[in-house]
Amino acid sequence: MTDPTTTHRPFPADFLWGGATAANQIEGAHDVGGKGVSIQDVLPRGLAGPRTQHPTPDNLKLEAVDFYHRYAEDIALFAEMGFSVFRFSIAWSRIFPHGDDELPSEEGLAFYDRVLDELDKHGIEPLVTISHYETPLALAEKYNGWVSRELIGFYERYVRVLFDRYGHRVKYWLTFNEINSVLHAPFMSGGIATPKEELPRRDLFQAVHHELVASALATKIAHETVPGIQVGCMVIAMPLYPLTPDPADALAVMHADHANLMFGDVHVRGAYPGYALRHLRENGIELDITDEDRELLTHTVDFVSFSYYMSLCETADPERRKAGEGNIMGGVPNPTLQASEWGWQIDPTGLRIVLNQFWDRWQKPLFIVENGLGAKDELVVVDGRPTVRDDYRVAYLNDHLVQVGEAIADGVHVLGYTTWGCIDLVSASTAQLSKRYGFIYVDRDDDGEGTLARYRKQSFHWYTDVIRSQGATLERGDGSS
Ligand code: BG6
Repeated sequence: MTDPTTTHRPFPADFLWGGATAANQIEGAHDVGGKGVSIQDVLPRGLAGPRTQHPTPDNLKLEAVDFYHRYAEDIALFAEMGFSVFRFSIAWSRIFPHGDDELPSEEGLAFYDRVLDELDKHGIEPLVTISHYETPLALAEKYNGWVSRELIGFYERYVRVLFDRYGHRVKYWLTFNEINSVLHAPFMSGGIATPKEELPRRDLFQAVHHELVASALATKIAHETVPGIQVGCMVIAMPLYPLTPDPADALAVMHADHANLMFGDVHVRGAYPGYALRHLRENGIELDITDEDRELLTHTVDFVSFSYYMSLCETADPERRKAGEGNIMGGVPNPTLQASEWGWQIDPTGLRIVLNQFWDRWQKPLFIVENGLGAKDELVVVDGRPTVRDDYRVAYLNDHLVQVGEAIADGVHVLGYTTWGCIDLVSASTAQLSKRYGFIYVDRDDDGEGTLARYRKQSFHWYTDVIRSQGATLERGDGSS
């Protein structure tokens, strides 16, 4: 039985409300302060295009939205909305320009000191992603990224520096952004230089293993270094529904789910699940897994975080599967759902489902660290001020937050919610600026033109009210709020 009071006001007083970003998508200043080249600097089209030899001027990420120089102004705007948490990533190549350097860059470290000072000033809790799709390029070129075991050592050196320097001021850490995406985007996610089509499955799974070990090692080091620190894994959550009631479709869902859930299972349970071992065995994939690796994997995470944008269907029917070709995560479109301008199917209920699924499976606190709508915005002038009437974004976020409330009322332990791209930023998959997620509009277009001025959108004021009221202003489908 559900207590109606709980259903309507489910968000606990210590619920963390905020927004999320990644260094390569907001900072710019790609060659400032001794920063090295990252894999993002050679992906001017994001996942949509091939990589270049060197950073090229048409890569919007090189300047992005210039958070590097404007962080104080941006954080003040987040504070104005009432954020209690801000998720950002540290650019690995600002700290270790080549990844394998002996010593960290003091200039790079000092930049994040300044960002943390500013958050501290406004009482905003930092949530830091250690590696968000921005491996130093040299690690991709010299070592083939995470295929090489040596990456564990370089990552260890990096995280030790971060925990020593910031561990006393940052409570929440994420080891790898969307760690399960390496199966689908090996270069962007795992810094693996071998083209995806030529990459042997064994190398791919060895890279997965190295990342899992590195993640567990980071958790171990954090726990040893700073009492009370909280380390989470971060995965793409994408509920899959059987396309038809045919049990073969349900089984296809189970297999596809396993490919994603395996990452959380290892992080939470501290060992590979049986279905993963079977997959490796039956595909003739023999991994190099040492006893030391097995011991490290037992250092499990404190919480599970995830991104949620959409759901998909699965089917065992090869003909129907063709409809899904081109989706990064596989799957086929759901005929009952509408999609965004970029074809991402909108499914608020899926968020409640995934929260329940993860909680039932792992019994670990959950953190929704990405959710949002990428859309084209039009700047208009209202009462003499530039703004965006983004009621479509408000509707998307409102409906998803209502489902978060439902999941909390279901008994799921949710730590907080950070919308993706709380300030407009460069898209990861398409490298466009016109795919906007923010509450704050940034004046820059896909040709790199614009003043970089910031403007509050309609959603800025909406989110301010949601946070101030602890979710009481959310509109439920039944007309109540
Ligand atoms: C997640 C990534 O996959 O989705 C972010 O963690 C990314 O880096 C976000 O920006 C939205 O995707 P896109 O392609 O619209 O930027």
